[in-house]
Amino acid sequence: MNKILVTGGAGYIGSHTVVELLAAGYEVVILDNFVNSSDKSLEAIRKVSGKNFDFVKGDVRDSVVLDNIFKAHEIDAVIHFAGLKAVGESVQKPLEYYDNNLISTLHLLEAMKKAGVKKFVFSSSATVYGETEVYPFDESFPIGGTTNPYGTTKYMQELMLKDISATSDLQVITLRYFNPVGAHESGEMGEDPQGIPNNLCPFITQVLVGRRDKLSVFGGDYDTKDGTCIRDYIHVVDLAKGHVCALKKFDSGLRLNENGGYFDAINLGTGKGSSVLDMIAAFEKAAGKKLNYEVVDRRAGDIAVCYAKTDKAREELGFVAEKTVEDMAQDSWRWQSTHPKGFNS
Ligand code: NAD
Ligand code: UD1
Repeated sequence: MNKILVTGGAGYIGSHTVVELLAAGYEVVILDNFVNSSDKSLEAIRKVSGKNFDFVKGDVRDSVVLDNIFKAHEIDAVIHFAGLKAVGESVQKPLEYYDNNLISTLHLLEAMKKAGVKKFVFSSSATVYGETEVYPFDESFPIGGTTNPYGTTKYMQELMLKDISATSDLQVITLRYFNPVGAHESGEMGEDPQGIPNNLCPFITQVLVGRRDKLSVFGGDYDTKDGTCIRDYIHVVDLAKGHVCALKKFDSGLRLNENGGYFDAINLGTGKGSSVLDMIAAFEKAAGKKLNYEVVDRRAGDIAVCYAKTDKAREELGFVAEKTVEDMAQDSWRWQSTHPKGFNS
């Protein structure tokens, strides 16, 4: 397997994955419309990897763009990162989320079918498990019960992929990410959220670098070791390597169904939970300074504890996350402190 189409390859997880794909010897074509990224991340990929790749600026919902890519390149597999991902925004703009996330996947699958491309890796999320209170989150759990349109688009896409692969030769590995954080250890690329960050770690580094005044810790009265929520933070470079493992899985003799199709869902996490206060301590150590924070009310929709069962990733993909919370904090801080305004610094 050689040439990979990476949709959303200019984004946070996509750009780190492209670096790992190039290092593993794959050729890459990126398709991105920069709705939540810029061409500066492409420059960073070239700099960090020392390698080149093809880039197409366009929308995954555009079937003409897709058909042209599949005509111009012999694509072996697709990794589909492109999508809108802000939970709060999805509540305000559900139509945009259903349109962007569902239509892009449908059009991509149609174009793949036309071109005879069968292998598909999908960016899913731990959010598909909904509000369960049983941990660790196991792939055998029922999914659904999502609490916002973003999460529902991930759930619906998983259902679509399962149904289509059951009756065709489409081969799907859907990867359920836990909480991706960190940055490339070079300090040249990292997370660059537009506007006010929704997620914990970019908010912490923006406070530490002086872009924001104070972190609000959402809830100090959960039934956890220190009262704050527990999450399974995974370094983005580990996560990126998980995608290389998924591609290799396609070549390892999958147990295909009678139509030649395949579907599997696999968690990508560390299996370890860290509290919000654990993360604050790790970032304070990395930055060598205290963080200004205040414990406030709980955020609606948050669950107390979320971490992954990781046995399936190890058994099926040979994947084990290696980097620690300290690595995540150090690498994020290196990126943020040298790029206080992200790629626009
Ligand atoms: P990101 O926003 O940084 O990257 C997504 C990329 O897709 C961006 O470059 C954006 O410009 C592009 N894009 C979006 N819609 C497009 C379209 N219609 N056509 C072409 N390009 C388009 O997000 P990310 O954090 O890298 O996430 C990648 C994927 O992983 C997403 O599907 C996201 O839902 C999923 N995911 C992310 C997280 C997380 O915490 N970051 C967690 C679980 C799952
Ligand atoms: C959120 C999304 C999830 C998505 C994931 C990755 C919700 C309910 N879930 O997960 O669907 O897949 O991001 O994009 O939004 N926190 C603070 N202060 C902050 C920000 C966060 O205390 O300013 C706390 C949260 O309460 C939570 C933890 O930090 O306990 C992590 O939050 P966050 O980074 O937003 O991720 P999740 O909520 O786990």
